[in-house]
Amino acid sequence: DQAKKKYLENLYQINREAAFFYMKNLSREKGPLLYLENRGVGRETILKYGLGYAPLRKKDLCEHLLSLGYKLNEIEDCNLVFINQTSGEASDRFKNRIIFPIINSRGRVIGFGGRQFNSDYGPKYLNSRDTPIFHKGNNLYGLNIIQQKKNRDRIILVEGYMDVIALGSVGIYDAVASLGTALTKDQGQLLKKYGQEVFVCYDGDEAGIRATKRAINILFSVGIKAKIICLKDGMDPDDFIKSHGPDAFELEVKRAKDAIEYLIEDLKKNFTLDSAEGKIGFLKEVSKLLRGVQSPVERDIYIDQVSRNYQISRESLKAEIESGQAKKN
Ligand code: CTP
Ligand code: MN
Ligand code: MN
Ligand code: MN
Ligand code: MN
Repeated sequence: DQAKKKYLENLYQINREAAFFYMKNLSREKGPLLYLENRGVGRETILKYGLGYAPLRKKDLCEHLLSLGYKLNEIEDCNLVFINQTSGEASDRFKNRIIFPIINSRGRVIGFGGRQFNSDYGPKYLNSRDTPIFHKGNNLYGLNIIQQKKNRDRIILVEGYMDVIALGSVGIYDAVASLGTALTKDQGQLLKKYGQEVFVCYDGDEAGIRATKRAINILFSVGIKAKIICLKDGMDPDDFIKSHGPDAFELEVKRAKDAIEYLIEDLKKNFTLDSAEGKIGFLKEVSKLLRGVQSPVERDIYIDQVSRNYQISRESLKAEIESGQAKKN
């Protein structure tokens, strides 16, 4: 147990040293600095988020960590190097990438993301795999920054590293990223802990819309009623901030739809409402959705809205919802 604790502590320290190494490398490298500058990421933001650069050479990081006295197998357990099974030779996992350290709420570096910036070698982003100190599914990127702000009345859930950073660089420090994966229940629980009100602001593209619907369900399941921000033209928060600025973003936050409204609007896309058949199909789906709303008061409010917006009597909508419930039992 004591040995296990020491081992985990070593892994944290290795990650910390790696983050410093990457940061130092960024400060003396023109290419990645220029890339960040072109994306509007200045010196201050680089320091605030601890951004770095992983060199191109085969095992600079590994050698650096070994020179500090860390053990190769522990460096490997951090998923910072891999060792060729036949030759036994070590090479760094992250090479020629801009590095985003993932830092937990206690300020400890638990993993990394690395973005390509001048080559198409490998995936756009490479992330740490799960390690003894990093479980992607129960962490959020940006929690360390969120923690610094005392009054968290809201929290904005975004997809990516650069979204968190773009918002931070204009003083909006309420964002965390689910790191591209489908939002997990654990991440939902975390969100609940950090923010009174959760705004989902995923990318405005097809993938983002699909991910938003999944996120709504996860958030419902942990008791969060999310608000949804839909950015137009397929933009992500970073793109949006770049083209429209922070005030326009705050306006989008104000205009956020609540999750049920969002889902109803989304259902509408599948039906042609000017035919009787289409309208019936739509209202049946809406009834199914509202059947899932637990609170009678809330349900009643949505029934009211739908009845007004789609010229259907409250009574028949209620009856449809209840008939489905009867069938379920
Ligand atoms: N992602 C990943 N691996 C990929 C692509 C994406 O892990 N090959 C994750 C990253 O955490 C990324 C997030 O999914 O930040 C969202 O992906 P995407 O929208 O494609 O990237 P952006 O965050 O918009 O990054 P950028 O603006 O730098 O292109
Ligand atoms: Mn795991
Ligand atoms: Mn995307
Ligand atoms: Mn994106
Ligand atoms: Mn982007």
